[in-house]
Amino acid sequence: MRDRLSSTLSKIREKGNYRTIKYLEPLSSTRIMYNGREYLNLCSNSYLSLHTHQKVVEAAKQATDRYGAGICSSRSVSGSIDLYGILEEEIAAYKGYKKGIIFSNGYMANIGIISTLTREGDTIFSDELNHSSLIDSMRLSRAKKIIYKHKDIDDLERKIKKENTTGRRFIVTETVFSMDGDIAPLADLHKLKERYEASIIVDDAHGTGVFGRQGIGVEELHSLCGAMDVHMGTFGKSLGSFGAFVLSDEVIIDFLINRARTFMYTTALPPAALGAARAALGLVQKSISFKDELWSNIEYLRDGLKEAGFNLQESFGPIIPIIVGEDKAAVEMQEELLEQGLFLQAIRPPTVPGGTSRLRFTVVRDLTREDMNYTIEALRAVGKKHGLV
Ligand SMILES: Cc1ncc(COP(=O)(O)O)c(C=O)c1O
Repeated sequence: MRDRLSSTLSKIREKGNYRTIKYLEPLSSTRIMYNGREYLNLCSNSYLSLHTHQKVVEAAKQATDRYGAGICSSRSVSGSIDLYGILEEEIAAYKGYKKGIIFSNGYMANIGIISTLTREGDTIFSDELNHSSLIDSMRLSRAKKIIYKHKDIDDLERKIKKENTTGRRFIVTETVFSMDGDIAPLADLHKLKERYEASIIVDDAHGTGVFGRQGIGVEELHSLCGAMDVHMGTFGKSLGSFGAFVLSDEVIIDFLINRARTFMYTTALPPAALGAARAALGLVQKSISFKDELWSNIEYLRDGLKEAGFNLQESFGPIIPIIVGEDKAAVEMQEELLEQGLFLQAIRPPTVPGGTSRLRFTVVRDLTREDMNYTIEALRAVGKKHGLV
């Protein structure tokens, strides 16, 4: 077996697609220490920079003091401390849903949702760029899977009409596509859901805390808060902690509690993660200035990069992809930027389709104008060298 694995690893290396884990030390919300040198971190999903906010960190400590370092049991056994229930109620109310349930992370939540709610005879219609956790969840489902072109409502409708199912139809989409930073046409998808009596499942991992006046997520942009059949979001991105939540009505949440294996057979989140997430949610609800400061940075950096000549595709918001093409070229650019003190990642297959390897970076609230000016100039120089601008 090892020969086979080694030979595959060699091929991955040759393609420039080999991954290593970089061990680093966080210095602040935007700075890290790596190999003895300080870098500007341009690939954090903590969009609101709340993971280092004093109140969030303090809440994690207080929850640990009160409940201990771990829960050491599944939710269904002895793992459901009151903090779970409180946070579930708060996040459901904030997002406009009747009920919520917390999972250990977004990956497990997605695996649980689709594999549990769909069954043989059903059909799942999935955007071609959906996150791996949604894809893996579909693999576990006995329902038929149909992939529609990215954000293409006409293609989706054609495929729904063509598929003469007697079972239930499910439309599955991310709200903000994690590797492209673009937004799903949620209002149109919702209309199709109504027209064809389908159910819609949305993954708002990157929308929560960022989109909409109150940061409720992409649903808020379309006045559709609470209108999806199932809404998944995470605490591990703009809410600065760890874990995920699934929101819906009583029946669906009860069904997940009773049947979702990734909920039932795993140790519950540690209290620190819940305490931190709750404090972050409180901050987001209390003050829209966090979000406004983030969006001011987003606009500044985007304008600078566009002015430098970069094509930012259809991205909109804090996730910015710069498509390079070949894996090796993307890695070279990443290395050159690293040389200049910028820590960001070259994203390659299988995370993105072949031939679309890219630099993907994120904008966060704590970036300063100086940080962003430096980033724009460094990218401009590297982009010029590689013929991108
Ligand atoms: C769109 C999307 N869904 C789900 C996940 C998984 O969430 P988690 O990191 O909490 O497992 C991620 C990222 O990690 C994501 O980008």
